[in-house]
Amino acid sequence: MSYRKIKEALQSIPTMEGAGVRLKRGFGHGQAPRFDPFLMLDDFHSSDPADYLAGFPWHPHRGIETITYLLEGMVEHGDSMGNTGTIGAGDVQWMTAGSGVIHQEMPQESPTGTMWGLQFWANLPADRKMMPPRYQDVKAADIPEVTLTGGVTVKIIAGSVNGVEGPVKDIIIEPEMLDITIPAGTLYEHPLPAGHTVFVYLLSGGALFDESGKEYHQETVLLFGSEGDAVKVETGNGIVRFVLVSGKPLGEPVAWGGPIVMNSREELQLAFKEYEKGTFIKQ
Ligand code: CO
Repeated sequence: MSYRKIKEALQSIPTMEGAGVRLKRGFGHGQAPRFDPFLMLDDFHSSDPADYLAGFPWHPHRGIETITYLLEGMVEHGDSMGNTGTIGAGDVQWMTAGSGVIHQEMPQESPTGTMWGLQFWANLPADRKMMPPRYQDVKAADIPEVTLTGGVTVKIIAGSVNGVEGPVKDIIIEPEMLDITIPAGTLYEHPLPAGHTVFVYLLSGGALFDESGKEYHQETVLLFGSEGDAVKVETGNGIVRFVLVSGKPLGEPVAWGGPIVMNSREELQLAFKEYEKGTFIKQ
């Protein structure tokens, strides 16, 4: 077996988004071409409600999927089609915006005192950008967890591990999304589809993620090279927890305007014009 090598390591950087939410960005506009089919990764993690209560009031999305994984706290979600819901601790919302969704995402004061969640965006291919919008809302209790040799635990959100399949299905980029915890002094290998892009985001602790001998720690994004059949992770004295995400690259032109990502500037202009005129929503 040959192992993927780390191509890039990025520390997530404090930034402000929405109506004034303080968060950390793992990667975004500047790095996105290298993460194809992924566009962005944000980490919201705070024990001060002033950092997150302003939330993300009404805004449109088109041409992408937004994936929210809440680790602690509560986010209320509503869209212009009348869908509403609460994303709670451990829940995942995989939203395929397709032709268009206008929604708001409003973090509530966390019952534990801490709000912690990840949101990442995945791109849609040209021929699916205008597909009907779709949600896959998954409750924490419906996410299977497997325990592997050495006490490694894997929550499977998308993809499969040891024959156990995650609940998020039928996504164009054939993603895997796994929340992995590895105890101290343990080796873990995860096989990957050839050619798929893979990154990890470290939630806590540290580990070696390739054969370079360098240890990486929390709030770091690691992007792997495309050569190799597996990712190899090895812990030292401590435990590590990270999210692993992989998907099939699209290799298409990207025209990015805030929450809307299309293939050409004309499509982007049309989207914003439709939003102004009130004709943005198609289905
Ligand atoms: Co949004």
